[in-house]
Amino acid sequence: MKIAIVGAGYVGLVTGAGLADFGHQVTAIDVDADRIAALQQGVVPIFEPGLDELLSRNMAAGRLVFTTSFGAAIAEADVVFLAVGTPSRRGDGHADLSYVYDATRKVAEHLDGFTVVATKSTVPVGTGDEVERILAEHRPDADVLVVSNPEFLREGAAIEDFKRPDRIVVGIEDERARAVMTEVYRPLYLNQAPLLFTNRRTAELTKYAANAFLAMKVSFINEMAELCERAGADVQEVARGIGLDRRIGSKFLHAGPGYGGSCFPKDTLALVRTAADHDVSLSLVEATIAANARQRFLMVDKIVGACGGDVSGKTIGLLGLTFKPNTDDIRDAPAIDIATMLMERGARVVAYDPQGMAAAALVVPGVVMAEHAYAPADNADALVLVTEWNEFRSLDLARVAGVMRHPVFVDLRNVYRREEMQRAGLRYMSVGRPD
Ligand code: NAD
Ligand code: UGA
Repeated sequence: MKIAIVGAGYVGLVTGAGLADFGHQVTAIDVDADRIAALQQGVVPIFEPGLDELLSRNMAAGRLVFTTSFGAAIAEADVVFLAVGTPSRRGDGHADLSYVYDATRKVAEHLDGFTVVATKSTVPVGTGDEVERILAEHRPDADVLVVSNPEFLREGAAIEDFKRPDRIVVGIEDERARAVMTEVYRPLYLNQAPLLFTNRRTAELTKYAANAFLAMKVSFINEMAELCERAGADVQEVARGIGLDRRIGSKFLHAGPGYGGSCFPKDTLALVRTAADHDVSLSLVEATIAANARQRFLMVDKIVGACGGDVSGKTIGLLGLTFKPNTDDIRDAPAIDIATMLMERGARVVAYDPQGMAAAALVVPGVVMAEHAYAPADNADALVLVTEWNEFRSLDLARVAGVMRHPVFVDLRNVYRREEMQRAGLRYMSVGRPD
């Protein structure tokens, strides 16, 4: 099949490379000319494990090309995926759909022959109707069907998620789209990935419901962690104890500094706003958002407490800046807020991250970027593990303790055990576990 992907970001690149790997002929289009020029030369603009190899293999085979031009790619496409961003709209927290609608208008100009336009971007319920209206307004003659095909991949595990999805959700309003989308995903379908057809609005809402539910699980365990700390219980054991109940499930029960990233924060907020437009109050999702915001303050309090109640003039080392490991994405990362709040309280913050420092330097220029994982410990009054990159999981703790001014380790991801910290001479604090 001939496929066009509009938007060559995290989702567009992974989807494009993945579909090309199935043997489809894929053209990825982006308005960012620098990004496309880099991609054409084989330079991948984001860090996603396995993506380099997948892209280069399919580019070399001639199945994947990049362009800034919509013309031929759209005209020839059987399916056009929209994979542009839908960030929070400034001021009101609704999803900003301007990129989706801009892309839709550009696509409309070039439609030729029967085409399915599939929205992969996360968009509020009803957006497909508006995409359909825009297409009809600009091209009343076009034979086009709009479907919703939300994406469920995780950054850092995106290739694996693409190849082995738990399910593929496709929202259609016309049966002709079913055959086309079944053909797109045939290799996965044959691998037993459930292909779930539903109507378009249901598919759109399913995406937000999934993200909100996962975010709620994280906020739930973070609230339990606070109670565990006060009551002398261990949140990791609580999580294990409840997670083994298959009705609950063990995933997304790791207490930490709160969820971040380009999706949970914006999607939970947009869902609440969409619900309000329908006169529905999503009190659980609202509480999830509030608990997550509070979690960042609690983490700062924990760090300040570890420094004797005052961080002014002190040096705090941070391990990790990205919102999770195996990505270079710092959007809404807890580490960025924590660094900012510590600096506001007069601390000097030194950080190291395997992939996130270039982006973070632009957002929090006051943070000193270190050269390696041990450098933030140098003369520090506390070392804080914020993102659980593998290289922070087996630090030489004696070396860490040896270079710190005050040997205090605050583990916001519960990676270490108290005994090993104590053996190395480090005072240890974690999340939801007895001190
Ligand atoms: P991104 O910011 O990484 O990439 C978006 C790309 O679209 C950018 O390269 C931008 O230049 C391009 N773009 C913007 N307007 C355009 C236009 N009119 N024409 C062509 N290109 C245009 O975004 P992302 O993280 O890939 O997310 C895309 C969508 O997928 C969002 O709705 C997001 O919520 C959703 N999503 C993201 C993830 C994820 O892990 N990042 C997972 C599931 C769903
Ligand atoms: C999330 C979803 O997992 C994907 O299914 C979805 O497609 C995507 O959002 C999206 O819509 O963009 P992602 O944001 O890449 O994926 O990362 P997650 O692994 O879900 O982690 C999100 C945040 O929650 C991270 O900050 C992570 O540290 C935090 N988290 C996650 C916890 O604090 N505890 C957990 O147990 C799990």
